[in-house]
Amino acid sequence: MLIDTFGRVATDLRVSLTDRCNLRCTYCMPEEGLQWLAKPDLLTDDEIVRLITIAVRDLGIDEVRFTGGEPLLRPGLTGIVERVAALDPRPQMSLTTNGIGLQRTAAALRDAGLDRVNVSLDTLRPEVFQAMTRRKRHEDVLRGLEAARDAGLTPVKVNTVLMPGLNDDEAPDLLAWAIAHDYELRFIEQMPLDAQHGWKRDGMITAGDILTSLRTRFTLTPEGQEERGSAPAERWIVDGGPHRVGVIASVTRPFCRACDRTRLTADGQVRTCLFATEETDLRTALRSDAPDEEIARIWQTAMWGKKAGSGLDDPSFLQPERPMSAIGG
Ligand SMILES: C[S@@+](CC[C@H](N)C(=O)[O-])C[C@H]1O[C@@H](n2cnc3c(N)ncnc32)[C@H](O)[C@@H]1O
Repeated sequence: MLIDTFGRVATDLRVSLTDRCNLRCTYCMPEEGLQWLAKPDLLTDDEIVRLITIAVRDLGIDEVRFTGGEPLLRPGLTGIVERVAALDPRPQMSLTTNGIGLQRTAAALRDAGLDRVNVSLDTLRPEVFQAMTRRKRHEDVLRGLEAARDAGLTPVKVNTVLMPGLNDDEAPDLLAWAIAHDYELRFIEQMPLDAQHGWKRDGMITAGDILTSLRTRFTLTPEGQEERGSAPAERWIVDGGPHRVGVIASVTRPFCRACDRTRLTADGQVRTCLFATEETDLRTALRSDAPDEEIARIWQTAMWGKKAGSGLDDPSFLQPERPMSAIGG
């Protein structure tokens, strides 16, 4: 079991498969100049599957989410999914992706055992997409989303970050579009995890702003607290149902008390939180032929260092050295 000193038990593992991405979202990565992880430092497919096996078989992980960087850029993704799906017990498996290339791979990923996808999309306007991601790939994302839904990787969730002056007027349009396409929309507050360290609290669009904007067009009724559980998104029933909209208020209403996550970076470091400033190395043990029990023990010990909260509210808050793309969002 992966229990921390506050009694929280991690059952949800986020695995970053690469720090590379084919977009350059302004709130995440600089246009150029970001140093990539060195190839020899990246875990191999076999090493990733071994760590996930230990996590699922010995440490109580029952949900695995692949992320990055952009996980679809990892050539071995389908094979990794297939091998994880064969584990006993079989964990729930999902993918957080920008959707580019999903049009070609959604069916194969489902056949390999993937259960669900979250696709990130911030705007319905191609020119705003280009301004926010510095790439002309809007249409590819829309096609990827449709392919995921058609392949049955459902519920397809759409993750949206609103940025002032760029797409902050789009919340109601995005919700109407998501409902029409049977996607579940979730807004994520912008967090201080960009490589450029450009985040400013007084510049960010808050959950409160998002709800005010949505309520200009929709009636929102809060879903019961018990339905949230450890899920980061607070959800609202839209116009009486059945559709829902979520808001992940990581900054203004953090959900740390119910956190059930542990993270693995693409170079084999355990992180107990997105905002952790310390990591625990598993790669060295992996590569020095440590037995599974030893690796499980290192992972368990790492969890004892998990802090009560993200520390965002503390004036002495320090942004982690690694940007979101290298942690695995
Ligand atoms: C880092 S990406 C990695 C997975 C994949 N490339 C994708 O686009 O979903 C995961 C999620 O983190 C979000 N994200 C990145 N930087 C963020 C930030 N500074 N604040 C809030 N969310 C952020 C992205 O919008 C995306 O939804």
